[in-house]
Amino acid sequence: MTVRIAPSILSADFGRLAEQVSEAAEAGADWIHVDVMDGHFVPNITIGPAVTSAVRAATDLPVDVHLMIEEPDRYFCAFADAGADYITVHQETCPQLHRTIERMRELGVHPGVTLNPATSLETLAEVIPEVDLAVIMSVNPGFGGQAYIPASTEKIRRLRAMLDENGADGAQLEVDGGINGDTAGAASEAGASVLVAGAAVFRHPDGIAEAIRLIRRAAEEGGAVEDGGPAEEGGADGVQ
Ligand code: DX5
Ligand code: ZN
Repeated sequence: MTVRIAPSILSADFGRLAEQVSEAAEAGADWIHVDVMDGHFVPNITIGPAVTSAVRAATDLPVDVHLMIEEPDRYFCAFADAGADYITVHQETCPQLHRTIERMRELGVHPGVTLNPATSLETLAEVIPEVDLAVIMSVNPGFGGQAYIPASTEKIRRLRAMLDENGADGAQLEVDGGINGDTAGAASEAGASVLVAGAAVFRHPDGIAEAIRLIRRAAEEGGAVEDGGPAEEGGADGVQ
């Protein structure tokens, strides 16, 4: 299975955002991941439609917008207009999830769903046939640079089984949070087809290209994450 790498711009240098996005694209990134946080659903405030438009203008790669906001129904039109290709909503914020997915598809974007680490996969069972993207949060959402939760690997394996059984053709399984050279193997071996990586790409001491090469190699080689997996030490701005 081909694994796509989606750098998360949350860890990029916002002062040079267009440059960082182009550098990631030139270095072989497959998608660009945009983390939208409202300070309510998660304890952080990040990016809106305006920055999403700037990312859109800087690349032809698919733009993968992750909405960590309350009432996403009120906002995904603006992100669709800003050029999002994929829009992912949290199951925990959508009481009318089936209608939300329908509306996103009507807007011409690829609908995606995700859930927090503590939320059961069963909550997605009814909508799995309707989505183009299903995302496992392998950290508690709200910050970059956190450690991968080892129990996520088993949850990825179960979601892969659900998608293989009932998923729409071509539906992607994305893993988001704590992905790096030590965790990419286990996530892809368990069935992930898209790996989001923020701090591991934009904060790597050897640069973006080397970071993406290492993650892709680890994903292709597979491998397990030991309990108490690696903890990342990072900066202070929205990245723990
Ligand atoms: C966390 C976000 C992630 C995060 C990934 O709430 O959804 O996309 O930015 O960053 P890393 O790879 O640094 O964990
Ligand atoms: Zn994300």
